[in-house]
Amino acid sequence: MAILILLNQVDPTLLETHLKSHNDCPEVRIWPNCGNKDDIECVIVWKHDEGVLNEFPNLKLIASYGAGVENILSDPALPADVPITRFVDDTLSDQMAEFVLAAILNHRLHLTYYREQQAASQWRGKDFLTGKNVTILGLGELGSTTAKLLDKNGYKVSGWSRSEKNIDGVKSYFGNDQLYLSVEEADFVVCLLPLTPGTKYILNADLFSKMIKGSFLINVGRGDHLNDNDLMDALYNNQLSGALLDVFSKEPLPQDHPFWKHLKIHITPHISSPTDKAKVARQILDNYNRILSGSTLKNQVDPQRSY
Ligand code: GLV
Repeated sequence: MAILILLNQVDPTLLETHLKSHNDCPEVRIWPNCGNKDDIECVIVWKHDEGVLNEFPNLKLIASYGAGVENILSDPALPADVPITRFVDDTLSDQMAEFVLAAILNHRLHLTYYREQQAASQWRGKDFLTGKNVTILGLGELGSTTAKLLDKNGYKVSGWSRSEKNIDGVKSYFGNDQLYLSVEEADFVVCLLPLTPGTKYILNADLFSKMIKGSFLINVGRGDHLNDNDLMDALYNNQLSGALLDVFSKEPLPQDHPFWKHLKIHITPHISSPTDKAKVARQILDNYNRILSGSTLKNQVDPQRSY
């Protein structure tokens, strides 16, 4: 019996090392060298190609390498009845919170601006931006940890989610009716939603028009949350002052994409919260053992909810 590592755009070596460091790890194979496909009982997946998960007749577990599983769920040839788990982890949430705080500070304190000035040997200071209202779209594990860190750092935090949330210091908006209301006073809007049919292109012209003029967008959710053209327009007419984008509809972002050269867009390469290889290895082995012993899985995805 074997576990298959099937990661696109991620080096599998470290994950393999961590898996193999555990006594309870079965044989590990790395895509595309699957050996006898009958042996594969668990596949660890990131950005797999459609259809490949159907090639393993004895598959018992599909384990996402990351928190987001939209790429798995959108596979039209996904094997029916094989449970899917996702990576849920404190480190993942803490890193995300830190990244979002850094992105906000970077903008408020003009740090990128000074780096640009340095290139021209210029000495010109600006006051910090005072707006400290942040709305986080999505208050799951990542969103709520981020909300708490921002609250601790003196930000006025609101969040929007499917259902009402009760987090100290965080105003909760919920349901479709309250989406626009949730962003009306925000100086920063942060997207940390799962990508579902209901959240695709949620970052669009209508939403931007409800935000404060000159507010700033941070997308650390998924590229398909954002309507790229609507963002370009909102930046052009100064409805938004800028955006930090960590995720894109197509990754890596194509060389000819206009975002690359845009002065108001700060691009990071889908790195806002890298998966901790040691922790994901242990979590997946635990779930693999649970499957073998018939116990309840941890962090199992509900395909109806899409996360
Ligand atoms: C990263 O984007 C993840 O889904 O964990």
